[in-house]
Amino acid sequence: SKVQIAVIVGSLRKDSFNRKLATAIERLAPADFQFTQLRIDDLPLYNQDDDGNQAASVLRLKSEVKAAQGLLFVTPEYNRSIPGVLKNALDHGSRPYGQSAWGGKPAGVIGASVGAIGTALAQQHLRNVLGYLDVPTLGQPEGFIHAKEGLFDADGNVGEGSKKFLQGWVDAYVAWVKQHI
Ligand code: FNR
Repeated sequence: SKVQIAVIVGSLRKDSFNRKLATAIERLAPADFQFTQLRIDDLPLYNQDDDGNQAASVLRLKSEVKAAQGLLFVTPEYNRSIPGVLKNALDHGSRPYGQSAWGGKPAGVIGASVGAIGTALAQQHLRNVLGYLDVPTLGQPEGFIHAKEGLFDADGNVGEGSKKFLQGWVDAYVAWVKQHI
């Protein structure tokens, strides 16, 4: 059976570069890996009062994460950090206390930005949160993707300029996941 990867994209935007990047990355992975992009747009705003009665969308997210053997975070940078929608999903999945869905799942962290430093600060903040959540994250190579003309071709695959780099990143990610399962 295939290695199941839960993909969390930190942008809700319809034409999100990061969602496109996630899809392009999935296509560079070997056939024994299966990727599922999880919904986070229907999660309520996290409220600790609801810990004993989590919404259906929260329970769904948690069961999808628990069923996966690995995680892939593909996120933009908002104001030099991670988007609130991503933090909201991370917080939901971590509760109630002692019942986090995230712990022990190997993860990759990558992102695309129209800014020159390509989500470096958002990724560092995300690594901080994931460290606390006991999620081992691939350290190298780092993937700071500059979303510029030609990043994707007409079919949504990675364009020639970034293909070799991203293939190397995906190969390292796949090896990282296999090392932990
Ligand atoms: C941004 N953007 C941005 N870019 C960046 O490199 N560093 C940053 O700190 C920010 N801050 C920021 C805040 C907010 C609220 C928005 C809406 C945008 C620009 C960002 O890179 C751009 O909107 C991307 O297109 C977002 O990724 P998606 O939605 O295309 O995946």
